[in-house]
Amino acid sequence: MIYFDNGATSYPKPPQVIDAVMAALSAPASPGRSGHAASLNASRSIHKARKHLAELFGLKDNSRLCFGPNVTWALNAALSGFGLKKGDHVLSGSLEHNSTARPLLRLKNELGLDWEIVPASNGRLLPLEFKKRLTSKTRLAVLNHASNVTGALAPAREIKEALGEVPLLLDAAQTAGSVVLDDAGDWVDLLAFTGHKGLLGPTGTGGLWIRPGLDLRPPAVGGSGSLSESLTHPDFLPDAMEAGTLNTHGLAGLAAGAEFILKKGVKSIRAHELELTKLFLDGCLRMPGLTLYGPGPEAEDRVAVVSLNLSGWSCSDLAAALERDHGILTRAGLHCAPLTHQQVGTYPGGSVRFSFGPFNAREEILTGVDALAELAAQKRR
Ligand SMILES: Cc1ncc(COP(=O)(O)O)c(C=O)c1O
Repeated sequence: MIYFDNGATSYPKPPQVIDAVMAALSAPASPGRSGHAASLNASRSIHKARKHLAELFGLKDNSRLCFGPNVTWALNAALSGFGLKKGDHVLSGSLEHNSTARPLLRLKNELGLDWEIVPASNGRLLPLEFKKRLTSKTRLAVLNHASNVTGALAPAREIKEALGEVPLLLDAAQTAGSVVLDDAGDWVDLLAFTGHKGLLGPTGTGGLWIRPGLDLRPPAVGGSGSLSESLTHPDFLPDAMEAGTLNTHGLAGLAAGAEFILKKGVKSIRAHELELTKLFLDGCLRMPGLTLYGPGPEAEDRVAVVSLNLSGWSCSDLAAALERDHGILTRAGLHCAPLTHQQVGTYPGGSVRFSFGPFNAREEILTGVDALAELAAQKRR
């Protein structure tokens, strides 16, 4: 089996991650609740996850890093808790995932939010396009850091500069752990991430970092293990955002994933993934009948995600043939991102997405290119 579906979830997970989850599952513990040693240990492993992720992202205050089940939770928590009101203007990129598009549409329909989508040009989002749309009513900008369809990497820091004081909510689902983000605390206002992709952790883990000075209305209130004498939910972070028992087992795995990445270095992971992406793009560029979407063939401004179609094949048939005949796992369809497919002209048919990870090897990429060439030739015969 060759796994090219890391954009959906990373595979394999490092053995350290599996060991950490197993150890946590074997321990009798609820973090931050009881005072016995096992419970304190569970709290420590969650603290370890906070500490490692804060180091990875360059966040000075790790207590503002709040855990939840995934980036969808984090994006919803940020958008619903931001205090947006009728008539407020919110900008977003046009390469957004449904995890931001759907909550934004709901706020538009239910609240009267003025949501404006900034189009990409040649598959790229430009800071100037954000800047020229700012009005006195612009309260927030939402940006997918890297498209999960085309792999296009947004110039997020430059976009934040163009936004000035307007806060930026960054969806780092496709970049956390695979693109250097080690100074995000200096320029991102709300950083949303998921644990099971580039961070190499288990599903059911993710979080939101909230810049000092920003207050969000918590998405839920309840047990926090702190201020139990009060019926009022704590207003300090991370407790304010973390009502209910956290995913202790998953977060132990996420801590191990983040530690693995810190040891390996995001730079070296990025270099490896860029090399694989270049190799794949090179092989695809020469192939008759193959259409690539998104930014040009230069790999530098994309993550290790490539979408394509092959003439004569529907994307679902192509993905099925890749698996059946070559043991290659990809993802076909609209990738929960219809806005992006509309922007690149593949709506509603979709595309086949190849997404590489730190454990893929050059030989696998070459096998993938050969498989595509063979399937392309089948339709020409
Ligand atoms: C850019 C982007 N945003 C959001 C998500 C949602 O991730 P999750 O399902 O982990 O919340 C994904 C993953 O599918 C993604 O690629």
